[in-house]
Amino acid sequence: MRAEGQEMPLVLRLQDVRKVCKDWKTFSSDDPFMIVPHSEANVRSVRQYPIETDPPDHTDYRALVEPFFRRPNDADYQLGMQQLVDEALAAAAIPDSVDVVSELALPLQSRSLARLLNVDDSEANLWISWGTHVFKEGDGVSKGAELSSYIREKFEAAEGSEAHDFFSVLNRADFQGRKLTLEEKHGFANMAFAGGRDTVIHTVSSIIAHFAAHPEGLDFLRQDPARIITATEEFVRYVSPLTAIVRSCPHSAKVLDAEIAPGGRVGLCWPSANRDETAFTKPDEVVLDRSINPHVGFGFGIHKCLGAAQARLIIRSLLQALCNQIEAIHLIEAIPEIEQESSFERQVGFKRLRTSFKLRSSQHF
Ligand code: HEM
Repeated sequence: MRAEGQEMPLVLRLQDVRKVCKDWKTFSSDDPFMIVPHSEANVRSVRQYPIETDPPDHTDYRALVEPFFRRPNDADYQLGMQQLVDEALAAAAIPDSVDVVSELALPLQSRSLARLLNVDDSEANLWISWGTHVFKEGDGVSKGAELSSYIREKFEAAEGSEAHDFFSVLNRADFQGRKLTLEEKHGFANMAFAGGRDTVIHTVSSIIAHFAAHPEGLDFLRQDPARIITATEEFVRYVSPLTAIVRSCPHSAKVLDAEIAPGGRVGLCWPSANRDETAFTKPDEVVLDRSINPHVGFGFGIHKCLGAAQARLIIRSLLQALCNQIEAIHLIEAIPEIEQESSFERQVGFKRLRTSFKLRSSQHF
């Protein structure tokens, strides 16, 4: 594809994507603002942590935030998330119709992020008001600057606090014998807010669209609750909401037959790898009980998604809530979100997805 004035090879096959991910010395992430194909220098002011760093620093940066990202493995956290999703879906089923993107997926994403960051639930109301595209010019206005001031104010307000929220903990954190700078803390928060936003929203809306088109799918899940686990992985594989993440090559490099000059870049195309027909049978179909599913939807290697436990829990809870509560989903209007590139275009979720939900008469299976 063409990005930043250069032709950039995209790595498409599952095994090749994994090989590049493993070789972080040749294919580096240490290139601020350039982790995605089109530079983000115009939409954010700070380097993102830990994603835009290489080892050994990456290892130490990642360790600082890992305890937060492990929270979804706690039983209490899981119960709370199921309740949150149950209530969100029940509320969405009351009106005659809802826009799944803005009225279900966005509130779910923001309210669950508040739990992950261990801040008051009410904080999510502001994040929801930023809309689905906090960085892009989605609704005509970028909220990137608002997000930046919000993050900085939060770190300042948490100065000296002994609390266990994300902001207070990062203020106290020790990185290689020193405190983090405000830029670094901002970069961590920026990644937490941005990394799990569109990805989660697109996955949720795509799941609802799938069951609107395939009502038998919910019955299939209800027949064997273990299928909720396999279906969760399958939706991450099939939707692959992140199209490409880029590595930069400090020295000349080679990927298959593509020669990369020093300073050149290579894109890792997760959705393509996840539809590799040499690795997946029926790659273009949603197979809810797919048993072998070595997808790279959450990446591979040292930068593997820190938010994967959270994303998996949201999806699992949503599938459980759909099975318990919903008889059928009627599609009223679907406007796909299309990513337009020089060499391909791709649907990633929806701009708008208006549906009505029909409740089941008995609510548990
Ligand atoms: C379905 C939802 C999601 C998908 C498909 C997804 C996908 C990915 C992918 C492919 C990577 C690897 C990037 C690389 O190799 O450079 C990644 C990394 C990351 N993701 Fe996610 N993500 C999702 C949700 C989230 C959430 C909810 C959060 C946080 C709230 C999050 C935070 C991160 C962070 C911090 C990294 C960087 C890890 C590192 O550099 O060590 N993601 N994600």
